[in-house]
Amino acid sequence: MNYKFTEDAQVYAKKMDRLPWSILRRYERSQVRGLLDGIELGDCVDIGAGTGFMTSLLNSHGPRSLTVLDKSSQMLEQIQLRGVFKICADCTEEFGRDRFDSMLSFGLLEFVDDHRSFISRCSEALKPGGVFILVTARECFASRLYRRYHLQLMQRNINVVPEDELERELYNNSFELLKKCYLFPFNVAYLLKNGGT
Ligand SMILES: C[S@@+](CC[C@H](N)C(=O)[O-])C[C@H]1O[C@@H](n2cnc3c(N)ncnc32)[C@H](O)[C@@H]1O
Repeated sequence: MNYKFTEDAQVYAKKMDRLPWSILRRYERSQVRGLLDGIELGDCVDIGAGTGFMTSLLNSHGPRSLTVLDKSSQMLEQIQLRGVFKICADCTEEFGRDRFDSMLSFGLLEFVDDHRSFISRCSEALKPGGVFILVTARECFASRLYRRYHLQLMQRNINVVPEDELERELYNNSFELLKKCYLFPFNVAYLLKNGGT
């Protein structure tokens, strides 16, 4: 898959401040805030954190510790939050074992070449009973437009994993579904618990 985030890092955060992205992103943030309701984050990681748009939300939710992981060091450099641990790594490779109490992945899975490895790495990095909020694009008309936008303007492909396949993979990696909802315009959000021992 074409990896263009590194080139985009400088402009990514600025773009998110402009219309129409600013409105959409504010809405997405409020949706994630709702999913965080009542959850103790403990040691938390934002996987595919980018410039930290969702990380600041996690930070305001009082984690014991907060880690950001991204393949692009240029993206991570944009995150200015104090006390945040940064890991520059590919999420399809091991990034910990029983290390985190909670994890968020927003808008990452569709950019990952090997979603099976990603889910398996998340399962091993999350402590038993830990919580995983996974938000990704789902197959629908709006996500087809989103894919076209990425292909034509960003020269990067996105890989929308069919929901049934994704849910099978989550189940095979001991994730239990606590909640699932659709977020306008094209995302599906899963609130999951690591049911493994
Ligand atoms: C669309 S951005 C989303 C960023 C952030 N979660 C947000 O909501 O603003 C996707 C991010 O995933 C990162 N990424 C893509 N593939 C990755 C991989 N295999 N491992 C780690 N990070 C990856 C990119 O560098 C980029 O920062």
